[in-house]
Amino acid sequence: MGSGTAGGPGARVELSGWGWRHSGRQAYALRGVDLTVEPGERVLLLGASGAGKSTLLHSLAGLTGADSAIGGEQEGTLLVDGEPADRRRGVVGLVSQDPETQLVMARAGDDVAFGLENLGVVPDQIWPRVDTALAEVGFPYGRRHSTGALSGGEKQRLVVAGALAMRPRLLLLDEPTANLDPAGAELVRGVLQRLLAETEATLVLVEHRVADVVDLVDRVVVLRPGGGVVADGAPRAVFEEHGRALADQGVWVPGNEPEPDPSPAPGGTALLEAVASPRARRSNWARGRLRRAPCWRGSTWQSGPGPPPL
Ligand SMILES: Nc1ncnc2c1ncn2[C@@H]1O[C@H](COP(=O)(O)OP(=O)(O)OP(=O)(O)O)[C@@H](O)[C@H]1O
Ligand SMILES: [Mg+2]
Repeated sequence: MGSGTAGGPGARVELSGWGWRHSGRQAYALRGVDLTVEPGERVLLLGASGAGKSTLLHSLAGLTGADSAIGGEQEGTLLVDGEPADRRRGVVGLVSQDPETQLVMARAGDDVAFGLENLGVVPDQIWPRVDTALAEVGFPYGRRHSTGALSGGEKQRLVVAGALAMRPRLLLLDEPTANLDPAGAELVRGVLQRLLAETEATLVLVEHRVADVVDLVDRVVVLRPGGGVVADGAPRAVFEEHGRALADQGVWVPGNEPEPDPSPAPGGTALLEAVASPRARRSNWARGRLRRAPCWRGSTWQSGPGPPPL
């Protein structure tokens, strides 16, 4: 990540028989996960909505566990550089699915500095690192700019700057271009592409629009809801073998984009449900679908007359 934000060799990730059950839930979000990611590997994590991709990223960031932000029960082991992830938070940079939840300060520069202060970076180094990270993502304003006045794409770039400033050795990106319009998404992707070319950090990336990011990764891992890893390998091999099944789960796989069903369908209800679901609203592929019929619903296409009256 340029000379200013490079963080050294990537971290190693190792999960063995790992599972996580959120507090108040009977079912495990993930279970029986066996996965090793070697230093510097670039992994695209796929799976249906609810398969546990975000949960896994949060756990890798050390945010789940007894003294952590997200409560629940773990089984098996999850190690970052040989240690439980909550002891390795300093090596991890996480960009969450919703940038709003990650911006904590009123001014842009303070927001980036916040993570560095938590890491215990000496005060003299904080502002130079903040300025470098803001410059690297092409943040168009100064440190004092209000975070409340930013567009979605600008917020996302600020969150990315916050992650980069920490010089992470494990970079976790959860749908980093979700919630952005096409121009904003293109901009953020460009930033990531450039920065990833300059770092040795290990990457775990979640993105439903596979074609947009496939060039950034060298490995694809697919999760099953409530289960473990169902596919793991080079992108082309995984897409050849599992492309259709992934498309059926709403993942936009190159060469296997879901085909619209031209036959008329009842319509109406599906759009209403999709609009009402915060999860669907956050998801990129769902967003594309919400604007036009036919809409993608479960494993079938439904054409409809457009949104029903609410
Ligand atoms: N904080 C939480 N408390 C309770 N259950 C949760 C929590 N977060 C996630 N879950 C549940 O864990 C499961 C996995 O959710 P998760 O958000 O990790 O899936 P995902 O693969 O990221 O989905 P999406 O593609 O929609 O973002 C789901 O059943 C979800 O309802
Ligand atoms: Mg998610």
